[in-house]
This record gives sequence, C-alpha cells and structure tokens, in this order.
Amino acid sequence: MVNSIEYRAPSNIALIKYWGKRGVQIPQNPSMSFTLSNSVTKTKMTWSEGDSQTLFLFEGESNPSFEEKILKFRKTWEEKYPVLKNLDLKIESSNTFPHSAGIASSASSMASLSLCFAHVVSKLTNNLDHKNDFLEQASSFARLGSGSACRSLFGGVVTWGEWNDETSNQFASKVDALPLSWNEWGDAILIVSSKEKPVSSREGHALMDSHPYAETRYKEATDRVSQLHQIMKEERLMDFCDLVEKEALELHGLMMNSTPSFILMRPESLGIIEKVRAFRKRTGLPVCFTLDAGPNVHLLYALKNKEEVKNFIESELTPFLEEGRWIDDKVGNGPEINHG
Ligand code: PMV
Repeated sequence: MVNSIEYRAPSNIALIKYWGKRGVQIPQNPSMSFTLSNSVTKTKMTWSEGDSQTLFLFEGESNPSFEEKILKFRKTWEEKYPVLKNLDLKIESSNTFPHSAGIASSASSMASLSLCFAHVVSKLTNNLDHKNDFLEQASSFARLGSGSACRSLFGGVVTWGEWNDETSNQFASKVDALPLSWNEWGDAILIVSSKEKPVSSREGHALMDSHPYAETRYKEATDRVSQLHQIMKEERLMDFCDLVEKEALELHGLMMNSTPSFILMRPESLGIIEKVRAFRKRTGLPVCFTLDAGPNVHLLYALKNKEEVKNFIESELTPFLEEGRWIDDKVGNGPEINHG
C-alpha cells in the first residue's frame, strides 16, 4: 500500500542567537526566536514497503547536495526507529520563498522533513501519537538536521536550550504566557545580497570553539534570554528593540574577531542599520533590525505600524537592496499538515 503525508513548516528568525555548539548538536547557550509565516518549506513524503530506497526531488528536480543531507537524516531516524528501514520513500520538497534570496532554508526544510518522519513513525508504531510528544520528538530530530530547525516546530515565540525548568537542550518549546501582541509583529526581510554565504553555519559554530570570548558570550546570551523574556512579558517595546539589535551586532562582532575573521555584513547592511536607528529615534515607533549570519537585514516591527514601515522601506531603504527586493513576512503559528 502507498501512503503519503505533506507538511508545511516555516522558517524562524532568532532574537537571541544560537552560536556555538557541543556534542550532538547541543547549543552552548539558549536562544529565542520568532517563528515566521510566509517563508515556508512544503515537504511531501510518500512511503510504501520496499527495500530502503530514497528518491528526493527539490522543486521537481534531483538535487545531489540536499539528497546527501536527507539520506543522513533518514539514517538518524532509522537508528531510533528501525521500522523505517523497510520502506521506499519519495520525498518532494519546495520553498514558498524565492530561490537564491540568500535566505537560509535549512530550518524550514529540516522541520518539515522531521514532521513527515514523525508522522510515518506514528503510523507504523504506537509511539509518538501524543501531541506534545510528537512535536518534541520532531523538534529533537530536526535539531540533529540543523540546530535552529528545532525552533520551527512551534508557532509564535519559541525557545531552545536550558534556561529554566521548562526548557531543554534537546528540543524547542513555545514561550507561553506572553502578551498576544507579540504574535502581531512583522518581519520585512531586506535582501542586501542573494549570494551564498562565505562561511557555512557549521564552520561558523566551530569558530566559537577557540574564540577568546566564548565563555563570556555563553553566559551573556543565557542572561539575555531571561532578560528578553521579562521585557516581552512587560511589553517594553523600546527595550526589546535595543536588546535585539545589540544581540544581532554581537553575533557579527563574534565573527569579526574569530580566527579566521569574517565580515558578513555589507556596506548596505550598515546603511540600513543607521537608517533604522534614525527612523526609530525620529518617529518613536518600535522598529528594529536583526541579522542572521549573513548580510540581509530583518526589520522587525509591530504590524499596526505596517503602513509607516512600508513607506519607510520604499522611500529610504530600497537603494540598499538588491534589485529593491524584500520579503514581507510576519510572526506565524507554526507548521501545518497539508491536506491538499
Ligand atoms: O541552525 P544553524 O546551525 O544553521 O545555526 C543558526 C545560527 C544563527 O542563524 C546565526 C542563529 C540562530 O539562532 O538561528
């Protein structure tokens, strides 16, 4: 019998960054993120009894570099659930966000793939059928595929890594009991460059192993997660902006004084940063920037100010953008099963 399942999982943007890892993808410090809404990977898994074949298609075509990661990921699942070994799998994946926008898709793709595996396991065994357990397991496997992917299993504000009794290094969880206003934030992803990053995230994390400020950083990031949580509980929007920006710049600072050193921002990234700070000062609106390990800038803002922010992007930021491109995203509710 042939069965299939399809999941959509979103990307996420870290507010407090995961940078540095140990052991089996254990983060050196906890992180906190917004789950996004429109930047999504859709993965369909079709399974039937067979002899362990895996066919992988990305946007309808074979893709050897992804395929290698997927075979490795399948092995990770099989080690825990040998029942998967007797299956032929067809995995078809596509992104809703444009190719080559310089937007990492590993979080959304590993999250959607992990959900498909978790679903198949739950169909074939009696494990994994409790809802939380299902998401926790999917999250802990997604973590093994790509650390930050484990946060894409939940909607809203999400945390990964131990910093209180409810959090874990193994899987992410939703940060509950926050004012609902945080679900009403936008993320305008400003495309400064769509080129591939000069340093992979695996190499980036490894830079922290010999970094002179590593221990200070891990302690500070841990403190910052608690601070940000408190700030968000109290809806101190300007403090939110200050801390999120400091954190983004610190990630880049760490890369600049790593050995070897990397400067991943472009002059345009800095141009945007200056404009954002001036705009916030001038208007008093809670609008701030954050960055991943690359030159593109995520502009975070309360959606009720969308009109002003859109005008600001169009009138002041477009000259810094590659072909004027930006992606209109916002905080989202997490993965969905696609019934087709
Ligand atoms: O999940 P990885 O291994 O691609 O690392 C992600 C690192 C950052 O994007 C820079 C920070 C984060 O927490 O997402």
